[in-house]
Amino acid sequence: MDAERAYDFSIACYRTLGQFRVLAKFLQKINLEEARRPVSLFGLHFPNRVGLSAGFDKSAECWEGLSALGFGFIEIGSVTSERQPGNLRPRVFFNPYHEACVNNTGLNNDGAKSVARRLARGPLKNERALPIGINIGKMKSVPLENAIQDFWETFRTLADFADYFTLNLSNPNLPKLQTLQHRSYLADLLKGFQAENEKRAKKLGAKKIPILLKISPDMSFAQLDEVISIAQDNAIAGIVACNTTTTPPSTMRYKEGGISGKPLFQKTFDRVRYIHKATEGRLPVIASGGILDAVSAGAMIDAGASLLQIHTGFLFNGPSFPNYVKRAIAEKVRPWL
Ligand SMILES: Cc1cc2nc3c(=O)[nH]c(=O)nc-3n(C[C@H](O)[C@H](O)[C@H](O)COP(=O)(O)O)c2cc1C
Repeated sequence: MDAERAYDFSIACYRTLGQFRVLAKFLQKINLEEARRPVSLFGLHFPNRVGLSAGFDKSAECWEGLSALGFGFIEIGSVTSERQPGNLRPRVFFNPYHEACVNNTGLNNDGAKSVARRLARGPLKNERALPIGINIGKMKSVPLENAIQDFWETFRTLADFADYFTLNLSNPNLPKLQTLQHRSYLADLLKGFQAENEKRAKKLGAKKIPILLKISPDMSFAQLDEVISIAQDNAIAGIVACNTTTTPPSTMRYKEGGISGKPLFQKTFDRVRYIHKATEGRLPVIASGGILDAVSAGAMIDAGASLLQIHTGFLFNGPSFPNYVKRAIAEKVRPWL
């Protein structure tokens, strides 16, 4: 089966599960009890440290069904201000030999307004058992100079529904997007974003929504230093390390797209450890990349990750994988930590 059809099929299954609300709630209750290690981070309560990363439920179609599997948080998206069809199919490829996935989707999603409508139908922010993050991307048609306004528009449309936001400046499938990680753009982008966030918080008498930044594994450590310093200057709540890479293993046949899974593990591990050390643990890191088994999950915790996100491991191992990872790290993440 074409990999993206397999995706569509599993999204349909989780959507159906989510429609049976009583059953989904029941399963969620049982699965959240499994290796329960709650943690509070950036003002949010996470029932455990294992989340689903962006790119699975891009348009908020099935997050209620996915919530039944015992995830500690789910990141929807990437969502853009308007609907975006993405690149032509086939654009997702599984590579079992390398335990990898290659995708060249180009941020396809139904757009912020549709996503807001879907989220409004489910439990709202303070009624949910787990935080729901929203990952925001940029429209392909919007030039870099107007990226800030494009990001704000999506933020405004979805702010009532997001427990946290992640800014995706690192997807390799969108031409020039990664340029936004450079100092000249990043400082303005984050400053403007936080100003908008503060304005909203003041108006509503609410707290600011935590903003995370998702980085590319392909940037140099010198550039990473710059990103860390700009992130800290602008009260960024945490770093999601990393998005997919465009550097394949030497033995892998590869044309284009972002590589996830095992080939990403070392790059992610190195960056998680680097950020944790450079900030002395003051900037929480969410490890995303190559968590495929107990060893890789444990290594990310040892490197200093506060939370883990899984994607390719979930695709390859199925619905029991979140609980497996939770059990794998339970010994390292003791309840009193
Ligand atoms: C098919 C596919 C689509 C993805 N789409 C997005 C996306 O829209 N936005 C994003 O920030 N990351 C996206 N990602 C990256 C994942 O969120 C994650 O960071 C990456 O796959 C590394 O984790 P893994 O090795 O556990 O898969 C996508 C990944 C895959 C495999």
